[in-house]
Amino acid sequence: MLERMLSFYIFVFVSFTAVVFQCDSAPIVYTITYQQYTTVQIGWTQQQVTQNIGSAGNLVSQSGTGNTAITIIKYTGSQSPLAVATFLFQGGILLSKAQIGLDTTVYTITLAQYTAIQTDWTRDQVTKLVGSAGCNVSEAGTGNIAVIIVQYKAAGTTFGIVSLGFVGGKIVSKFEVGFASTINNKINLLQYNTIQTGWTQQQVTTLLGGSGTIVSQSGTQGSPYQITIVQYVGSQSSLTAVTFLFQGGILSSKGQIGLDTGIYTMTYQQFTTIEIGWTRDQVTNVVGSAGCNVSEAGSGSTAVIIVQFTAAGATFGNADLTFINGKLTTKTGIGYFLAISNKITLQQYSTIQIGWTQQQVTTLLGGSGTLISQSGVQGSQYQITMVQYSGAVSSSALALITFQGGIVYGKTQANLDTGVYMITQQQYTSLQIGWTRDQVTQFIGNAGNVASEAGTGNVAAVSVQYKVVGTVIGTVNLIFSGGKLYIKTGFGFK
Ligand SMILES: *[C@@H]1O[C@H](CO)[C@@H](O)[C@H](O)[C@H]1NC(C)=O
Ligand SMILES: *[C@@H]1O[C@H](CO)[C@@H](O)[C@H](O)[C@H]1NC(C)=O
Repeated sequence: MLERMLSFYIFVFVSFTAVVFQCDSAPIVYTITYQQYTTVQIGWTQQQVTQNIGSAGNLVSQSGTGNTAITIIKYTGSQSPLAVATFLFQGGILLSKAQIGLDTTVYTITLAQYTAIQTDWTRDQVTKLVGSAGCNVSEAGTGNIAVIIVQYKAAGTTFGIVSLGFVGGKIVSKFEVGFASTINNKINLLQYNTIQTGWTQQQVTTLLGGSGTIVSQSGTQGSPYQITIVQYVGSQSSLTAVTFLFQGGILSSKGQIGLDTGIYTMTYQQFTTIEIGWTRDQVTNVVGSAGCNVSEAGSGSTAVIIVQFTAAGATFGNADLTFINGKLTTKTGIGYFLAISNKITLQQYSTIQIGWTQQQVTTLLGGSGTLISQSGVQGSQYQITMVQYSGAVSSSALALITFQGGIVYGKTQANLDTGVYMITQQQYTSLQIGWTRDQVTQFIGNAGNVASEAGTGNVAAVSVQYKVVGTVIGTVNLIFSGGKLYIKTGFGFK
């Protein structure tokens, strides 16, 4: 249930920001070989790609029109259903390509090699050191602005991966996942608390007796803009992790998970009582404990601290508070809604309109819902408040209402509308960017499940979902902006 809720929050943010998503477990029949993939070149027309591969592929998403139209096409590997190739076209011209699993060669890199690699190195330098060229997982642009992402398997790990980003033939970033678990650079809470933003990387290394694991690095070696992220493992438990971010060799932020084993609890009543603008001391006084500093960045007036409490009454819930320059700027509570239930029906949800006051919503629903997050000064026109209600009929249904300055700005629902809205794959392919909502509804024969709505007039954004006829998980997501189809996305086609 909680997982469902959390994935809903991710979904909400995806809907509101209109990001294109896709699902890799989709069953698709358009196939591609590795050889075909390598033949396809950046700059080809969509027709050339179709001809070379022998089919048009699955349309994953489309947005914009004419020269700015963005189209994403996907093929499945002919050898393995888990291998995927993705092509992104702008104005009908191939801008980038990416593949996972088509190149089945295993390219391995050791931690020592990974550590030795410097930003600014050429591909040849890397290949010489490592003994293999690695796997081109993604390529975009050409010449000086060519961007290539190369991956290696991290030696000695089960799932570890090293990613190198090249721009114009030179490394601009390196990144790894997995080496950290094989290394024993330990840290305890006292050491963590001792280390302060502003310290040099050398000071940190000396205090901890080791340089940790570089999880990522970008920017030229020795430059003031170089960003290095280093990880250490907790000395008490291997499940704890500490991350330090250095900019130009100076510690600019630190974060920890699980190192501070204190239990800091906040009740829902305390969560609603504390106000944006309060100092850390004021919050500590009301809650009765200071909470866990999970991340700290900057200093003085730009100091940002994220403090976490356990949500009382929820099994996995947290209350997260962000303080900037010592003052509370954002509070987010995930999990309280499991213990609190203010109900909503689909009819009530449909009645609520963008532009209503929070008081109107509270009156209609007979309760103020569960406060999920708040930022901005109390009573200001920029204050953002997110409130959740649970479905009156089904416990898996919920609605989220976002208020800006006390006025409904957006609303989102999941499973509240239990209608079945279908679309055929052919209808999906025929939909044209720029069509009005009415044109789309008429063409498909039903209005779809309106998952979220925000804003009004020219800036109105509406996200509508359909199930795909003849598939189990096939889903189409349409985003309308200012009343016109702006992005269409589909996955899970047969
Ligand atoms: C990987 O990318 C490099 C640089 O564009 C290119 O020279 C090389 O041929 C590519 N390798 C494969 C196997 O496609
Ligand atoms: C948490 O952060 C505050 C503010 O920087 C600091 O005063 C306090 O000592 C920190 N607590 C711990 C346990 O480090």
